[in-house]
Amino acid sequence: MRRIGIYPGTFDPVTRGHEDIIRRAGALCDRLYVAVAQGHHKQSLFSLEDRLDLMRTVCADLHGNGEVIPVAFDGLLVDACRQYRASLIIRGIRSVADYEYEHQLSGMNRHLLPGVETVFLITTDRYSFVSSSLIRETARLGGDVGELVHPYVKNFLTVKICKDC
Ligand code: COA
Repeated sequence: MRRIGIYPGTFDPVTRGHEDIIRRAGALCDRLYVAVAQGHHKQSLFSLEDRLDLMRTVCADLHGNGEVIPVAFDGLLVDACRQYRASLIIRGIRSVADYEYEHQLSGMNRHLLPGVETVFLITTDRYSFVSSSLIRETARLGGDVGELVHPYVKNFLTVKICKDC
């Protein structure tokens, strides 16, 4: 049986921390959908099209064991799971602060779609402090985020939000 996973997130923008999770999750699944959420639960800075474009470029550079396919989704994550026949939801955990939220998310998803399992990967230490909002803020204020995002993402940030830096 093929193991199909889905790694959802807002990815506003995708960071090296996300890449780390994608690479490791890709090795656990025969196929991994990286699902970029429209993100009604929070206001994203970048459009869905931009976030998906960044994700496509980043994933094109990843050489995992399985297939990694970036997609966009709107609405419930469990509906995307049904659509892509994913039985595993992948989430990264950076610290205990992430745990409470992830606990609720996985419970609700299992309630809505019994049988779906959430697999948590602990983020690699060197990226445990990284978040998309910190990347945006640091870039906006002229800080160097070059080690924390893919070069394509760095260029995008420079063009989009550092215009006045
Ligand atoms: N490396 C770097 N940053 C990481 C990270 C990692 N490994 N893991 C998480 N983060 C950061 C993200 O950058 C983001 O930072 P920000 O808040 O500063 O922007 C933050 O952690 C959380 O982001 P993300 O993982 O994208 O989760 P989210 O809360 O934005 O999105 C969804 C969660 C999209 C999966 C969830 O809201 C969802 O499923 N929505 C669909 C609707 C639905 O089904 N709702 C009911 C589900 S219970």
